[in-house]
Amino acid sequence: MRCFGFVLMMLLPTAVVAAPQEVGSEAVREAEVAKALEDPAAVKLGEKQFLRCKSCHMVGEGAQHRVGPTLNGVVGRKAAAADGYNRFSPGMRKAAADGLVWTVENLDAYLKNPRAVVSGGTMSFAGIPVAQQRKAIIAYLATFKEDGSRVSP
Ligand code: HEC
Repeated sequence: MRCFGFVLMMLLPTAVVAAPQEVGSEAVREAEVAKALEDPAAVKLGEKQFLRCKSCHMVGEGAQHRVGPTLNGVVGRKAAAADGYNRFSPGMRKAAADGLVWTVENLDAYLKNPRAVVSGGTMSFAGIPVAQQRKAIIAYLATFKEDGSRVSP
């Protein structure tokens, strides 16, 4: 019991400090969007690169789910949280339950090799080997807010 109390004391201050950066929180989201937009010039290239995704994903105002979910507001958001898309694979749901958040880093890894990040996922996409192209797509995605409106980079 004494030992438990000690552990609790050690943990509490960390919990208080960690709270504003809680996984999936608004603060994390804003930080990731800002990080994605560090190089505003990437957005234009990203728009072109997004052509590879368009057969399955929509962004912008009035975007609808297609084979894949709409990607409005995805940067910095928890995985498998696209509102109204009910075809997430069990693999993606599990990754989300295990805490997967679409940080710039995780998106980069997913776009490089979807299966390496989500085992049992259903995104039939080979992946993009060129880092600059992945970065550009992430920057482009970061300009779309949840409601499909755009932030200027
Ligand atoms: C052939 C169709 C297809 C293509 C092409 C495709 N995707 Fe996907 N994408 C999907 C499907 C289906 C899912 C859901 C996967 C799952 O549930 O395992 C998904 C999921 C995602 C997610 C997770 C969404 C969330 O809310 O958790 C992101 C991010 C994503 N795709 C980005 C991209 C990007 C960027 C591209 C282009 C470089 C792309 N996808 C190309 C079908 C596709």
